[in-house]
Amino acid sequence: MFEKKEEQEVPKKTAIIEEADDDEMHEINAGELSAICSNLARGCEKQYRTKEAALFTELAKYYAAKTAIPQEAGFEISRQLIQKDLTHGLPAASAAAEASEDRGAKRVLTWSEKVTRMSEALLERYAAEGADMLKDTKIWVCDICGFIYIGKEPPAVCPICKVPSMKILEVK
Ligand SMILES: [Fe+2]
Repeated sequence: MFEKKEEQEVPKKTAIIEEADDDEMHEINAGELSAICSNLARGCEKQYRTKEAALFTELAKYYAAKTAIPQEAGFEISRQLIQKDLTHGLPAASAAAEASEDRGAKRVLTWSEKVTRMSEALLERYAAEGADMLKDTKIWVCDICGFIYIGKEPPAVCPICKVPSMKILEVK
């Protein structure tokens, strides 16, 4: 019933990728694959695809076990990665979403930029206040958009993606 389709030559680079620096292109590592599989597992959960969610979770764990622990993880590295996201990653992704008129991607990227800027502000606050910033308080993360909140109780509604507080989970 099916006819073999002639393979079309796929362009090696898109316009967006051509604009990016060569050093931004890299092979996906195990940690990134783990994160992608974890996100796909959550996507499947939301669509009540429990079997697929379990398979993606298994893959995420497999790749997580193969992920090398960065030797230089810390405050300054986090700050640099946030800056790189704000100046390169997010603008490139937003341009790609705009070019393909992908409303879902544009919405998520808007959230991502807000969350990244808030994370940057938290890092700057931590730089100024040190460990006292986290004394007698709790850290909360929105399970949907990644919004980070520091306080005794989570906000009633996530200020970024508007989900109720039941989706804002405490991180210990
Ligand atoms: Fe959120």
